[in-house]
Parts: sequence; structure tokens; C-alpha cells
Amino acid sequence: MEKRRKLIAGNWKMYKTLPQALELVMELKRLVAMVRGCDVAVIPPALLVEPVGRKLTDTGIAVGVQNIHDVGFGAFTGELSAEMLPGVGATYCIAGHSERRKIFGESDEVVNRKVKAILSVGVTPILCIGETLQEREEGRTTAVLRKQMEVGTSGLSEEQVGRIVLAYEPVWAIGTGRNATVEQVAEVHGWLREWLGDHFGGSVAEQVRIQYGGSVKPDNAAQLMHTKNVDGALVGGASLDAASFAQIVKSSL
Ligand code: PGA
Repeated sequence: MEKRRKLIAGNWKMYKTLPQALELVMELKRLVAMVRGCDVAVIPPALLVEPVGRKLTDTGIAVGVQNIHDVGFGAFTGELSAEMLPGVGATYCIAGHSERRKIFGESDEVVNRKVKAILSVGVTPILCIGETLQEREEGRTTAVLRKQMEVGTSGLSEEQVGRIVLAYEPVWAIGTGRNATVEQVAEVHGWLREWLGDHFGGSVAEQVRIQYGGSVKPDNAAQLMHTKNVDGALVGGASLDAASFAQIVKSSL
């Protein structure tokens, strides 16, 4: 059985000016460019993707985009199309981050269209799913995840699902400093792997990488990253500091 390579991705959200981004990337190059045991990516704000990527061309560090609109080219002032991703060197594109769902009202249907648009240009979608605190406390975690997965992957072939990265990000753990416990993560990731197997077959289930995200920090990364069925991390706050991000990358090896 093929061993999945972990993917540690830093989601910079709406942080960093261009000079700050370039400084961070130069430090990252120094600290993690030589890491070979896992995949590493940075996901800056869209304006910074191309210059950041250019600094990383001679390293193994990939770049990604945080969000796109769900159609091809068109008259949508201020939006970005999946068509633009390959030309700026993007390897990954996030779809359905909880901040997009909650603040910008993205439905599972919109997220599904984004996943399809990203796949259609040969880029890897990082499909984010996760329950709110209220949903967890009401015992609805599985129901919420099931719907996000069902609609999020609707209409996709086995081959397409095999190319997706999933990021389980419990909403209550994002930016709160309160990470999910190893037990909670193991339970959800195991359930997700099973769900993938039931819907797309065992080999797709074995292929899909499932990241954990939500307050991953240098001091909890090793434990979380060595939990069964965890294939990496989507890191927010701690990815804004090169030393912290590098430590998380190294903890995952
Ligand atoms: P956090 O964010 O690491 O700051 O909790 C994770 C994310 O939003 O992807």
C-alpha cells in the first residue's frame, strides 16, 4: 500500500505585504527548502502568489491560492478565475475554507463548483470541511461532514476525487488556540477515510490526503501529525512566522 506523503501548507490568509512576504519566504527557504520527507506549500494572498512563487522556483516549496470564483473568465470585477492558476505557478487552491463559508456565505454547492473549476485546470484543490462548536455539541459533527462531503464531491469521478486534498478543520479550532484532541482528530479522519472508501472505492480512499487544520502550533504538531490517517496540516497563524512553520514541517517527518 502506497504511503501518503504529508502536505504541510501555510495559509497566510489576509496577512503580509509584499516586502514582508518576501522576507518570510527567504527565511523559509533557509529553514525548510532542504526538507525531502514531506510536501510543503505556502498559500499567500493572491496578489503575492506570483512573486513569492518566483522566489521558490529552485526549492521544493510549492505555492497555492486561497480562493477563486467558480466560473471561467468573465465580467466579475475583483474576482479570480481558476484559469489563472497554472500561469502563476500555483499547485494548490483552497476551496471552502470556513472563513469563506461563514463570512462570505459560500454554500456547499458553490464549493463543489470551485473544486471542479480547480480540477479542470490541473491544480490540486484543498477542500476544507469542518463543524462549528454548536454542531459538535449537538452531536451533529458526522451529519455536517457527511453533507459537506456529499455535496462537495458531487459529480466528481473517482480519478478526480483521488486528486483532491481534504482539510478537516473544526471551525471552533481555527485561530482560537484550541486544537482538536488527537482522539477527536483520529475519529473524524478515520470516518472520512471510510466515507471515501464507501463512495469512491478503497484505492481512492487510500490515495486522498487528509490534513488537519485548526491551531496547529510547534508544540502540538508532532502529536497531531503522527495520528493515524492524518496526512499533514493546514496551518494558519503559525505559518506567518518562519521558525514556527519550519518547526511544524520538521515535526511531521
Ligand atoms: P489557524 O488557522 O492555524 O490559525 O487555526 C487554520 C486555517 O484557517 O487554515
